[in-house]
Amino acid sequence: LVAGIDSSTQSCKVVIREARTGRLRRFGQAPHPDGTEVDPHAWWDALQVAVATAGGLDDVAAVSVGGQQHGMVVLDADGEVIRPALLWNDTRSAGAAADLVGELGHIAGSSADDGPRAWAQATGTVPVASLTVTKLRWLADHEPEAAARVAAVALPHDWLTWRLAGGGDLAALVTDRSEASGTGYWDGASGRYRRDLLALALRRDDADDIVLPRVLGPAERAGTGDAAAGLGHLVLGPGAGDNAAAALGLAMGPGDVALSIGTSGVVSAVSARPVQDPSGAVTGFADAAGAFLPLTVTLNAARVLNATAALLGVDHRGLAELALAAAPGADGLTFVPYLEGERTPNLPHASGSLLGMTLGSTTRENLARAAVEGLLCGLADGMDALREQGVPVERVTLIGGGARSAAVREIAPAVLGRTVQVPEPGEYVADGAGRQAAWVLDGGDEPPTWTTSRVRTVEAEPTPVVRERYGARRGHVVDRVE
Ligand code: XUL
Repeated sequence: LVAGIDSSTQSCKVVIREARTGRLRRFGQAPHPDGTEVDPHAWWDALQVAVATAGGLDDVAAVSVGGQQHGMVVLDADGEVIRPALLWNDTRSAGAAADLVGELGHIAGSSADDGPRAWAQATGTVPVASLTVTKLRWLADHEPEAAARVAAVALPHDWLTWRLAGGGDLAALVTDRSEASGTGYWDGASGRYRRDLLALALRRDDADDIVLPRVLGPAERAGTGDAAAGLGHLVLGPGAGDNAAAALGLAMGPGDVALSIGTSGVVSAVSARPVQDPSGAVTGFADAAGAFLPLTVTLNAARVLNATAALLGVDHRGLAELALAAAPGADGLTFVPYLEGERTPNLPHASGSLLGMTLGSTTRENLARAAVEGLLCGLADGMDALREQGVPVERVTLIGGGARSAAVREIAPAVLGRTVQVPEPGEYVADGAGRQAAWVLDGGDEPPTWTTSRVRTVEAEPTPVVRERYGARRGHVVDRVE
């Protein structure tokens, strides 16, 4: 048996499957605090409860951890966590991101305007507040004493893998390509850390002494579990960032695009070559199988559905019924859903707006429909951005909690202008981590083929006017708190 763990923004999930066939044997889950700043020990506690609910790991041969990307876990020389982790959805480092972009522009080119291109070339990604590198700069600026004590920087999944191995020596920290590529100080094209960028972020001359997790290959062993905790029989896999783990769980190949509607909205696709987009719309991340996983991320996904349902006083089923009762285009009502600022486009201080309200269009049904359409328009823009970078976009698969909404499933093909595949609801991140664990055990060139879930194809009449209107109205949004 193998176990795959998903330490997500809200909870920890453990899926235990047969290594060869992928047949499901057991599942466990435990919540941990969400928010944007969390003590990593809460993830460790939740992991242990989730493992216990899944019946423990005594009969399991290998484990891999998938996790929310980018979170800044800073450790001191004794391996202690210095402060609560700042997570991918924390936008306080937006100013630090802008500063870093400008500074590298001056170093690598002749002005701040050269920054986006310089970052894209150096790391594949123009930093926004989500990236670890910007959180380190925020720490240097706002908590300099803490920044001076940093002896190692890990990400949520690296830290959990290290704890499973017993912790201790900082030199034992490992990560994988997908996670390293989301830090902002690793170059996916060369496979090397850019310590000069780490030094720039932390404003430290001695950044070469800071321990960064060793970057493992896709099926490389990370070590074994902590013998003192009774985990000595476990082989540990390198783990992966949640989006890369989901790609492995869905067995994505070239041409496949995953549209994930969870706490974040993610459009990701497999690419054989690294992507470097100076516009910043596409992040040039690596995947967990030896290739690349360029993606675009919106901060406003499932929460748009939650907020609209709460406003209308209905549950998710009620929201879907209302949305499907409205005509496509919601009678001209447009919901630009930047409820917590936005990451793509990079408008961290923007707020949402409801436009096109008339006496006739202002109905509960249209509001519900406009929310679903607005959320999907953001993801459709992401798909276009991937295509503009030459990434093949052929088959679109809808996953994440939002895909459970009938309205999202039915309206997605209309807004995207193409059919979408909807697999059975599942834990694709944990499954991908589990498949990686099976791959590590097996030691082959490819991950094992697991039986895939049943997939439904959903079609709809395209409604291009929805995106046209959204594109025009989104253009008026300003990046300031209104
Ligand atoms: C990816 C990102 C999010 C988190 C969510 O860049 O920030 O998808 O990984 O867990």
